[in-house]
Amino acid sequence: MADKAKIAILISGRGSNMAAILYASKLPDCPYDIILVASNNAAAKGLELASAEGIATFAQDHNGMSREEHDAIMHDAVIRSGADYIVLAGYMRILTADFVQKWTGKMLNIHPSLLPKYKGLHTHKRAIEAGDCYGGCSVHLVTAELDDGEVLGQTKVKILPDDDADSLAERTLFAEHQLYPATIAAYVTREQNPDWILDQVRKRALALEETLERPSFGAPAWRVGNEKSGKYFAYFAHRHFGENGISLFVKTSGSDEQEALLDADPELYFLPKFYGKSGWIAVRLDRGNTDWDHVEAMLAKSWRIVAPIRLTKLIDIANEF
Ligand code: GAR
Repeated sequence: MADKAKIAILISGRGSNMAAILYASKLPDCPYDIILVASNNAAAKGLELASAEGIATFAQDHNGMSREEHDAIMHDAVIRSGADYIVLAGYMRILTADFVQKWTGKMLNIHPSLLPKYKGLHTHKRAIEAGDCYGGCSVHLVTAELDDGEVLGQTKVKILPDDDADSLAERTLFAEHQLYPATIAAYVTREQNPDWILDQVRKRALALEETLERPSFGAPAWRVGNEKSGKYFAYFAHRHFGENGISLFVKTSGSDEQEALLDADPELYFLPKFYGKSGWIAVRLDRGNTDWDHVEAMLAKSWRIVAPIRLTKLIDIANEF
C-alpha cells in the first residue's frame, strides 16, 4: 500500500466523530493515520480520549484573540505535526478565508444535513419543521463559503413521525460515524481510483469546444468536430491499447516534440505502443501526483492540433483582444 495520508482532526467538544475516525484508522487497510487532534477548547472531551489513545493533542482557546491570530496558531500546529489533511469534526468555528485557502482541497468537514439544504445551525429542527422525509449528513470540502464546498459523500436518515431535533441528531450521529471515516478513506486514495482519474480527464476534455466522448476500442476517448468528421484528440488508456497502468494519450506536433517530452520527464511520458508512430504521447496518470493543470494544458494543445480551422480561428481572434 502507498504511504498512509497523515490527518489532523480539529474538534471543539465531544469528539465522537473524531473517535469514529480514530478507531477506523486502526483497521488494517485504512489508508490514513491520525497524527494530531487539536481544539479551540482545552476542555474538549475528545482531547482526553485522543491523548489516552496515544495521539498528539494541541489546544488553543480562541478567547481574547482575533480570528486571524487563532487560525494562524492552529495552522502552525497542524503544519508542525506534518499532516497532509485537516479533518474538521464538530469544530465550531468560522474559518478565515486565508486559513481555508491554505488548505484548499485538503480540508474536509462533516455537516449534519443533506447539503445544500440547511447550511449553518439547527439543521435537524429545520428539516423536521420543513416536513422533510429525510435528514442526514454530508461530508464536504471546505471552502471560504460556509458549508458550501463540493459534497464528497452523503447519508440519508429517515425522519420518524415522533422525531424531535435531539432524537434525529442522535440517530444521524450513527450515520456520521460510518460516513466520515469511509469518505476520508476514499478521498485520500482518490488519485489511485481509476473512476476518479477518468472523471478528472473527462470534465477537462468535455470543457473544450465542440468535443464529445466516443469510445475507441473500448477506451474512453474524445473527439473534436461534428459527429461525422470529428477527430480524436485524447484517449484514456486503462489496460487498453496494450499498455499497463493508467495514462492519457494526446497528440503532439510531431516527433521533435515527442522526443523533447520524453527527454524532459521520462517518468511522466512514454511513447504509446500503437499510437507513438503517429505523433501521440502518453502521459502517466497513476503516479499519485498528477498535475491536473498540466493535463488540462496538454488536452487543450492536442485539441488545437486536430480541431477544424473554423474553431481554432475563432480562438485566435479572441486571443488577440
Ligand atoms: C456532529 O453532529 C457534526 O455533524 C456537527 O457537530 C457534531 C459534533 O459532534 N457539526 C456541525 O454542526 C458543523 N456545522 P462530535 O463532536 O461528537 O463529533
